[in-house]
Amino acid sequence: MATKRDNTLKLKFDSARKLSPAPESRSSATIRPRYDLFINGKFEPSSGKKYFDTINPATGEKLSEAAEANAADVDKAVKAARNAYEKCWKKMPAKERGKYVFRIARMVQERAREFAIVETMDGGKPIRESRDFDIPTAANHFFYYAGWADKLEYAFPNRTAKSLGVAGQIIPWNFPLLMASWKIAPALATGNTVVLKPAETTPLTAMLLAEVIQEADLPPGVVNIITGGGSTGAALVNHPDINKIAFTGSTEVGKIIQRAIAGTSKKITLELGGKAPNIIFDDAPIDQAVEGVVNGIFFNQGHVCCAGSRLYVQESVMNDVVRKLRDRIETLIVGDPMDKNTDIGAINSKQQLDKINKYIKIGLGEGYDMYQSSCVLPDRGFFLRPTIFTNVAQSSRIAQEEIFGPVLTIQSFRTDEEAIEKANNNPYGLSAGVWTDKGSKIFNMTAKLRAGVVWANTFNKFDPASPFGGYKESGYGREGGLHGLQPYVTF
Ligand code: NAI
Ligand code: MG
Repeated sequence: MATKRDNTLKLKFDSARKLSPAPESRSSATIRPRYDLFINGKFEPSSGKKYFDTINPATGEKLSEAAEANAADVDKAVKAARNAYEKCWKKMPAKERGKYVFRIARMVQERAREFAIVETMDGGKPIRESRDFDIPTAANHFFYYAGWADKLEYAFPNRTAKSLGVAGQIIPWNFPLLMASWKIAPALATGNTVVLKPAETTPLTAMLLAEVIQEADLPPGVVNIITGGGSTGAALVNHPDINKIAFTGSTEVGKIIQRAIAGTSKKITLELGGKAPNIIFDDAPIDQAVEGVVNGIFFNQGHVCCAGSRLYVQESVMNDVVRKLRDRIETLIVGDPMDKNTDIGAINSKQQLDKINKYIKIGLGEGYDMYQSSCVLPDRGFFLRPTIFTNVAQSSRIAQEEIFGPVLTIQSFRTDEEAIEKANNNPYGLSAGVWTDKGSKIFNMTAKLRAGVVWANTFNKFDPASPFGGYKESGYGREGGLHGLQPYVTF
């Protein structure tokens, strides 16, 4: 029987879900029926004349198609990048290089609305996120690195930083434009040229960026953007004239790439998966912590390498936290990513949805308690209710492996030592979160947590000036900030 509290909550949730739709207009962006490869400053079909579809995961409808680059196209792009490097970019005064990067930043900013719409339609993330986070942060990365271009002597005092040559960059589908800017901006600022390959489910904002780069009058060949799947990526990795590989994606492909370049002089940075612990102590401001946990795992459908997917709660506040979390996820609005009210959009692909559902089955099979929001899902597209598992064993697959979806596991702990032990007991080490009132506890935890980034009383905060990267199976090398320049230079 429903209690009075249940009824009050139900009323609250129903009214939250009954917000009138506030859809962003599609008309502010034009998606062309077909996108070609961007090589040497021009758009051209792939030599195999093949195209692959990119769909809108919120509807399942085809949005456009992109050219599939084969090994010959990769070779052409690398040659264009090499030529631009030797003949122009490497010799250009750093101040001039910086101006180009700055121009890209401004143009991304000017076309922000268009970028946000295309990002949301191609990838499924809520428009609020692409509008307020992805696109402005992408522009900020170009601004930030534009500033470094002529100040490398201050970044590396008493040393002369030299560019490497041609960088091959491969990015995933969770932050398509942002990942492109993370990779392209520091490469250009340090005097390298680029061949970038976006992910096959989200090629469109990279192609818009190619348009921006063309309009910004970048010398032809300085940035080349080629679309395609894993084999295009592999051809790029294996090309003999690449000096540096920058990869963000799965640990599995990261390992393949590492093997492929072993014994070559190619430099590499790998930003792979994560399984971040979020730790709530009993002295934490619980409501804020719950909000941070929700933001940490349900933000961007959990398609975040640093998502706080493992929650550790001190035993005395466990019941409180779980109750508040359940209440909060009931109010999350799951649905049309183009609606400005939406909190959780579409899962990026059918393949990813299947993977997440497989893990949910594993969790149920292992006998853990599952709670899902009771929201109604759209009748088409790829959607999933926010999901939490409680009483999960540390050794469980759902607590150990990266799910990359809106699924949270919850465990309890008693002491600081137990929290550290459990948090570090995982193959990944990208990020972590700590929620407590005590500064000394924060310092104790951050010193002992094996994670590249530790957030305290907040989560998922990014800034172009701060470095990002992991330990263990999360990869190596840092992107962002001063540290992000280092992988693109030699001395
Ligand atoms: P993936 O690692 O296969 O794809 C990432 C990029 O690598 C894409 O551009 C892809 O075309 C390219 N690629 C694939 N095979 C390649 C190869 N042999 N050589 C060079 N490039 C190659 O990731 P996928 O399959 O899309 O997602 C699988 C899982 O990976 C997800 O469920 C998630 O757990 C994890 N993932 C982690 C990300 C992160 O930010 N760390 C991002 C995306 C996925
Ligand atoms: Mg798509």
